[in-house]
Parts: sequence; structure tokens; C-alpha cells
Amino acid sequence: IAPLVGKLSKLGPPGELAAALLTRVAGAGAARGGPEIPQALGSINAVVGQAFFVPLYDLFLTYGGIFRLNFGPKSFLIVSDPAIAKHILRDNSKAYSKGILAEILEFVMGKGLIPADGEIWRVRRRAIVPALHQKYVTAMIGLFGEASHRLCEKLDKAAADGEDVEMESLFSRLTLDVIGKAVFNYDFDSLSYDNGIVEAVYVTLREAEMRSTSPIPTWEIPIWKDISPRQKKVNEALKLINSTLDELIAICKRMVEQEDLQFHEEYMNEQDPSILHFLLASGDDVSSKQLRDDLMTMLIAGHETSAAVLTWTFYLLSKYPKVMAKLQDEVDSVLGDGLPTIEDVKKLKYTTRVINESLRLYPQPPVLIRRSLEDDMLGGYPIGRGEDIFISVWNLHHCPKHWDDAEVFNPERWPLDGPNPNEINQNFSYLPFGGGPRKCVGDMFATFENVVATAMLVKRFDFQLAPGAPPVDMTTGATIHTTEGLKMTVTRRTRAPVIPNLEMKIISDSQEPALS
Ligand code: HEM
Repeated sequence: IAPLVGKLSKLGPPGELAAALLTRVAGAGAARGGPEIPQALGSINAVVGQAFFVPLYDLFLTYGGIFRLNFGPKSFLIVSDPAIAKHILRDNSKAYSKGILAEILEFVMGKGLIPADGEIWRVRRRAIVPALHQKYVTAMIGLFGEASHRLCEKLDKAAADGEDVEMESLFSRLTLDVIGKAVFNYDFDSLSYDNGIVEAVYVTLREAEMRSTSPIPTWEIPIWKDISPRQKKVNEALKLINSTLDELIAICKRMVEQEDLQFHEEYMNEQDPSILHFLLASGDDVSSKQLRDDLMTMLIAGHETSAAVLTWTFYLLSKYPKVMAKLQDEVDSVLGDGLPTIEDVKKLKYTTRVINESLRLYPQPPVLIRRSLEDDMLGGYPIGRGEDIFISVWNLHHCPKHWDDAEVFNPERWPLDGPNPNEINQNFSYLPFGGGPRKCVGDMFATFENVVATAMLVKRFDFQLAPGAPPVDMTTGATIHTTEGLKMTVTRRTRAPVIPNLEMKIISDSQEPALS
């Protein structure tokens, strides 16, 4: 730990404070009777300057599927074992809360579905899950296609002008436009231009990420939190988002009142199929802070995650040209000239495997956070109430014992005629959308969104890392970002030449073997 303390000390006053806090307390969490959870000793000198989940991988190889990491007075259990993950997420999920995550995200998500626990979570989950019914997700495919088409038009221009493009920020805008429409029928139109509300969403997101990774909660320091220019900006951004949400809720409420409403299981308003519309039609309380919290939660949950999946998928495709060629073959044979339909999406099996495999190598988020609410046994070790736990999905997805060539991007590892891989059929070794009662409510939505966007983009363009682009390294907030963007050269694809009928005729007349 000494080198880490040294590095932190060089970072100025905040680093010094963190370094002072960072003293390992040997034996913390011990004396509970029974075997003791292995403690990671010393070797996290590489924490500073790289994504935090990366050094946790080396520690996993040394200490195994569950180990303890101590930071000064704080202690974390790092879980990388599928059976223990299954126990926490599914079999004994009632004994675990969202812990630190809820504390960090409170300022933006309040008691929204991701941070909420207990009765609030139960009631809201029951209200929200039905909104993402099959008819809704199918209707969203049109929206995914329209937004991806706008991105294609933007890339057309860049390709024609010979300009390289930074794809990470474009994917972020694509998925913001999608989720705004899908959740509360708002057109951010961020692919076309910047406006105050788009800026406000980004200020809020960056703050949430800063809080998730900062060693010191400066935002809690009395007085500082009120006078810091950064906090002022965050408060203004939140105010703008909240007033926009209020307006959208009011507009939606008027629409619902004017409808000849016949609410049923697969209810959907054709003009406004949004989740907000479903919730209001189902009788949700419009004035409640809870509704705003849930809308905000879904905005964030469905935005950065999908943007990160697309970013890393295109990075991987640029590194694996054979996968790209196979993907383009499939897309060329399935998609016509119009926007993809649900039938097309079902046929895009290899494209789906590409997304499945991208999510294995780059899970979003790379860790799941929990806190124990009572004593429990994890992997044969007793643990007490109040333990903060990181389930490292990154470690589960990269485990060399579980995966052949774990570091290789190999969509073929799951046969096309087999089931889509998920946490159940992979027995919790693969958790792209979590598992158990708190599994992602948007898994189908997100998979279709990523499949449609990927298919439409690779049908029209080839993508290469731009010459001289900065190396594509990882950094982390809630999801895995690149450190300096994903700069790519985008070129229009030329289609294979069509063989004129005349030639075909000559060949068949002369009884030549058919062209293969
Ligand atoms: C929960 C991943 C897209 C809404 C989760 C969890 C994961 C996840 C891993 C579990 C968190 C935990 O157990 O702590 C993803 C990924 C996405 C994605 C990788 C995109 C590729 C979406 C979308 C929506 C959404 C589009 C909304 C439309 C939620 C919500 C929860 C959640 C509300 C909390 C569920 C609960 O606690 O009951 N997501 N998600 N997600 N996700 Fe997603």
C-alpha cells in the first residue's frame, strides 16, 4: 500500500487527505468465529491512474473468489465467485441493500428504482416493470432505427469530408436521444445540436461519476458544498432537469385526461408510447417526487450503459476484422433499405452475439454494489451485518478458469442456434444485466437498441481506429469509459458489384458451373 499512499500524497491536499486515511487495518472484520476471509495485502500500488476494477482482477487471481480489502477505517469484500454472486443477488437477496450506491446517487436519483431498497423498491418495481412490456419494446425498435439513421447521416457528412470522428460522444448522444423519447417522450435531439438541457444532463452525470470514484466526499463538507462553483452548477443543472420533467409530466397528464382510456396489460398510447405515459395511465401519482426520481433513474440507467456498450463494441470490431466481416455479411443479408423491423432484429443472431460478447469483455457497470443487512455466510465464511460488498462482474467475465481464451473477443463462443446467454443459463458466471429480483428492467430494450444501432452503422460504414488516435485505455465512472475518446475513421462501404444479367445468361448457355 505504501506506493499508493506515496502517489496519492503527490496529488495535492485532497490526495494527501486520502493518503492519510489509507492505512490498512489488519484483522478488520475478524473475530467473528469460523474461518477468516483472505485479506488482500499490500499489492494495490497500481490503483491510482487506472480504472479501479483492473487491480481487483490481479488480486482475485491471488486471493480467490472472495477477499477483503481495507482502506483505513473502511473495509470491502470483493466477490468474484459465481456461486457467491448468485447467493447475494438471488438466493438471499433480501439480506442485502444497495449500500454506498444509494448514498452516492441520492442527490440525483433520490429513491428511484436503482438505489431504492425495501418496501419502496418493491412497490416501484411492481409499477415500472409492466411498462416495459413486449409491445412497448417492439414499438421502440422504430425509435432505435430513427435515431441510428440520424447518426448515420452525421457520419455520412464526416466520411464525405474525410474527417475522423469521436465515436464515444456520438454514442452518448444517440442513446440520450433514444432514452429521452422512450422514458418521457422528450426529444433531446442532442445528435443535432447542444442545448441547455443536454448540457444539464451531462453536468449531472459527470457529478454522479465523480462522486462514485472520489476518495473524499467534498460535496458533503459544510459551507464548501454551498459555495463551490461546481456544486452550484450541479444544483442549477438539477433544477433545470426537474423543471423540464415537471413540464413533461404536466403535458403527459393532459394527454392522458383527454384519452378514452382503457388501461390493460399491454396498454400503449401510439402517439406517445413512453414509460411515463404508461405510468400515468396506470394511475401513478403525478405530483410525487417518487415519479421524478424513477424517471431520472431510468434516464441515467438507460443512457450511459448503452453508450458504453456501443463504444466498446466498435472498439472491439476495429480490432477483430474477421468478426466485423462476418457481422457485415449477416447485416447485408438481413437488412433491406428501410429501418429494421422486429423480424429483422430476430434474424440478426450474429449481431446479437457480438453485443453479448462485448458485454462479457466490457460489463457495464463493471461492479455491482451491495451492503449486508444481517449476518450471513459467503462461500463458507461468516460475515456480519453492514459489510460493503463489490461483486466484480469484470472478474466473473474475465475468469480464465471459466472462459476459454477469456481475453479474446469471440462471439462464436455462443452458438447461433442456442439460447441467448444470460445469468441463468451461464449459472451466474455471466451477469451483463445483473440477476435475481434486482435484475435490469431494460435488458431487452437495451439489447435491441444496441443490435439495431450496430447493424445499421456497419451496414453503411467501415470503421477503423483513426491513424494517430490516442490509445484507447479504460477509465471508470458508473460505466467503463475511454480515457481519451474513441477516434475513428469512418468510410462509406462500397457494395459488391452486381453481376449483369447478360453475363449470367452467357454462363448458363455455355453450361459453365454456376458462380460461387
Ligand atoms: C439495473 C445493466 C439498460 C433500467 C441494472 C443492473 C445492471 C444493468 C447490471 C443491475 C444493477 C444491480 O444489481 O445493482 C444495464 C445495461 C444496459 C442497461 C448493461 C444497457 C446495455 C437499461 C435501460 C433501462 C435500465 C435501457 C431503462 C429503460 C434499469 C433499472 C435498474 C437496472 C431501473 C434497477 C432495477 C432494480 O433495482 O430493480 N441494469 N442496464 N437499464 N437497469 Fe439496466
